[in-house]
Amino acid sequence: MKFTEHPAAESSDPSRDAAIASLLDACFDSAHGGRTWFKQIPHERLLAWSGSDLMGHVGMEYRVVRVGEAILPILGIVDLCVARAARGQGIGAALLQGAEERARGQSFALAMADDPRLYQRTGYSLIQAANVTFLAIDESRCHSVIRRNLSDVFMVKRLACDAWPDGPIDLLGHLF
Ligand SMILES: CC(C)(COP(=O)(O)OP(=O)(O)OC[C@H]1O[C@@H](n2cnc3c(N)ncnc32)[C@H](O)[C@@H]1OP(=O)(O)O)[C@@H](O)C(=O)NCCC(=O)NCCS
Repeated sequence: MKFTEHPAAESSDPSRDAAIASLLDACFDSAHGGRTWFKQIPHERLLAWSGSDLMGHVGMEYRVVRVGEAILPILGIVDLCVARAARGQGIGAALLQGAEERARGQSFALAMADDPRLYQRTGYSLIQAANVTFLAIDESRCHSVIRRNLSDVFMVKRLACDAWPDGPIDLLGHLF
């Protein structure tokens, strides 16, 4: 498996973009509507290839978030996915690890996961009392600022520094 990284600022490649859009639609029930992004274009992507076939994708978003009185630089994990035929071979875990290694300046990695298994196996944990404020984006439109308890999906891994602080979480933007 070959891994390639792509900052958002590099020039676009139509065939690569088509492969990304197709993988995202296959893995997320067409929720991306043929786009290469869901809420926003990630700052960087890591791709896994078998020859010329795209097998895996993870998007990386860099941001600061507020937790109580602390301002923390974080890596947001977005659109982690692996082609159905290639699952269970460690590609998902390798993409997560690759994303984290490229984000050494960030204090924590964050992910929203309905199914926590892969994240828990790779060092993430659910945050107790994750009372989160975020910008709701739907159909490529901002429509409100929402406050919600996301304790059942909000996963955090420490990359550096101290433990995750207590306090309400303000994502200063959209959900990952
Ligand atoms: C989640 C996903 C990326 C894992 O990719 P992968 O290459 O199979 O991952 P790995 O081989 O490194 O690890 C496999 C483990 O991931 C876990 N896993 C399986 N499906 C999962 C899912 N939807 N979400 C989280 N973890 C999952 C399981 O523990 C699995 O081990 P098991 O088969 O022994 O039970 C892949 O299943 C996928 O693309 N799912 C659809 C998209 C998705 O739900 N992405 C997660 C968004 S938060």
